[in-house]
Formats: sequence, structure tokens, C-alpha cells
Amino acid sequence: MAITDRSGRIIDYARISVTDRCNYRCTYCMPEEGVSQIPHEQIMRYEEIGFLCRALSELGVRKIRFTGGEPLVRKGIAQFLKHFKKDFHEVAVSITTNAALLAHFARELSEVPLSGMNISLDTVDAAKFREITRVGNIDDVKAGIEAARSWNIPNIKTNTVLIRGFNDGELPDILRFAWNNDIVPRFIEFMPLGDDVWRREKFIGADEILQMLSAYGEWMPLLPQRPASDGIPVGPAKYYVNAATGKTVGVIEAVSNHFCASCNRLRVTASGNLRACLFSRDEVPLLPLIRNGDIEGLKCAIREGMNAKPECWENLRDGKQRMYGIGG
Ligand code: 5AD
Ligand code: SF4
Repeated sequence: MAITDRSGRIIDYARISVTDRCNYRCTYCMPEEGVSQIPHEQIMRYEEIGFLCRALSELGVRKIRFTGGEPLVRKGIAQFLKHFKKDFHEVAVSITTNAALLAHFARELSEVPLSGMNISLDTVDAAKFREITRVGNIDDVKAGIEAARSWNIPNIKTNTVLIRGFNDGELPDILRFAWNNDIVPRFIEFMPLGDDVWRREKFIGADEILQMLSAYGEWMPLLPQRPASDGIPVGPAKYYVNAATGKTVGVIEAVSNHFCASCNRLRVTASGNLRACLFSRDEVPLLPLIRNGDIEGLKCAIREGMNAKPECWENLRDGKQRMYGIGG
């Protein structure tokens, strides 16, 4: 029986964080120093993630995205994913990565095989890239993307959080970069997760993003695209396509037109806490049940936790959370 919540939403998509650690320090995501790290023994081991996924797949979850922090900094991740996909060949497996280490992992990741990969890319300018990530080198990301393409990893998308005054002038460069690499670029509204970094003035809504796109006549018209119905649960991005060129761009209206009503996802943090909603502080600790090997108890806790999924996040946000701790 599928997981449903009290609003009748069917939950068939899970995002599982495999680590809270990251090799970048993106200014909107992490503080520069003093990032509290979860002790190793409180992080789910790979076999525990496997056990959790057994329960999730028995509950009808058909797509699992592994996130972080940065998933590729966790030792043995590619091996894990390969084994995982063998055990769960019916589940679509994807990752979200900052691509810093992708050049090293692309071949192994291509062997999983992944259904897709999302790459965080807020700018294609080397100096700005260093500024926003504090430590990153854009050349690593470019090499990673090249490697991923050469190993034919399918369905690569970039995620760009648009921040006014930082990367709003770069939209054409990012589009060109993505399209030249056969990647679907996606622009994300900057979500008010951490009040110390989020400002209304920095926020750019989806309407404005679409207006910005339409300034480039050669790309137009970009018309709404219906999601492909390949049976894989879809995320919240809206896609626009130019029928003549086939170029596609996605816009994620996380804030202005939140997609709570059609939300089909659950999240599990690296320490095995179930989060029914990105913005909700309520977490159900699953690790004790996982460590007990109690699959029925685990399924029951997941069902119950998801039944309590808030209808919408608007009333929940407290501005004190950061993505790296929850799992993109
Ligand atoms: N708003 C929008 N996206 C965010 N991410 C992290 N913090 C925010 C935020 N406040 C994105 C990253 C990455 C994904 C995992 O989450 O840019 O693409
Ligand atoms: Fe790391 Fe992603 Fe957060 Fe940047 S946004 S610090 S890459 S988890």
C-alpha cells in the first residue's frame, strides 16, 4: 500500500541525505566555519540506508535521490550506489551533487546506472564561483560535467539559485553553457531557509525569471512543456521548451507558487530522521528502528510520520534552517 498523507497526497519519491558534510561552503547554505557535524556513529551506515530503502520501496516509493551535504564526499558512495541499484533495480536512482569530485566518479556512477543527476551550478564565472562556494573551483565542475557526459550519464540538469545582485545578469551565460553541454538548466527561486542570508531584495520570482528569458528573442518562444510520463515520479520544476530548437529550461517556483499541493516527497536526513516537509522542524527518528531491524515498525513509523505531513510550509518556516543539514 502506498504512503498517503492526511491531504491524500501520494508519497512515491524519497530524498535521502548520505552525509551532512560538504566540500563547499556556499554562502547561502553554510556558515563559513563552525559547521556542526553529526558524529559518525549517528550517521546511517550503507546497510542501514539499504534497509530503510527496503521499507520505502515496500511502501511504494519508486524514485530515490541521494543528496548531502555533498554525497560524493562520502567514502564508498559509488560502490554503494552500484550495489543499491542491483538490489532495487525497479527504483529510479539519482543524485544531486556539486560536481566538485564528479570527474573522479563519473565512470563508476555511469555503471550504477543512474536515472539522472542534478548539478548545483549558481554561476559559470570563475571568480563568482569561488565567491559563492567560498572554496570551489569552477574548472573541477566543468571537468566533472564533461566526464559525466562522456560516460553517458543520462538526464543531467543544472540547478541555479537566482540571487539578485549576484547572478541575475548571468542567465544567458548559464543557459548557453548548459545547452552547449546538452544539459537542462533550471532556475530556482531563492528559498528563505536561513534568515541571516536571505533577503527579500535578493529574491527573484518565477514571473521575473520568465520575463528575463523572454528578453532573449533568439530563444523564444519558450512554451510550457508537459512532463514526460515515463512512470518516474516528477519533481516540482516547470519546464519550457522551444519547439524549433528543442532547448528546454526549468523554473522551480519554490516560493511564489509553492507546489505543496502536489508534493510527492519525503526526506530522510543523514542521521535517519524522517522529514515530512523541508520546512518542518518535526522529525521522526528512524535510526533506532532501522538498527533494530524492525521493518514493520519502520514502515509504520514512516506511514505515521508522513500522515502528519503539513499541508503547506508557509506557516512553518522559522528562518533558522539550512539545506546542508536537511538534504537538498
Ligand atoms: N534556496 C534555494 N535552493 C537552495 N539550495 C540550497 N539552499 C537553497 C535555498 N535557500 C539548493 C542548492 C542545491 C540544492 C541541493 O539545494 O543550490 O542546488
Ligand atoms: Fe554544499 Fe550544496 Fe550547500 Fe553548496 S549548496 S554548501 S554545494 S550542500
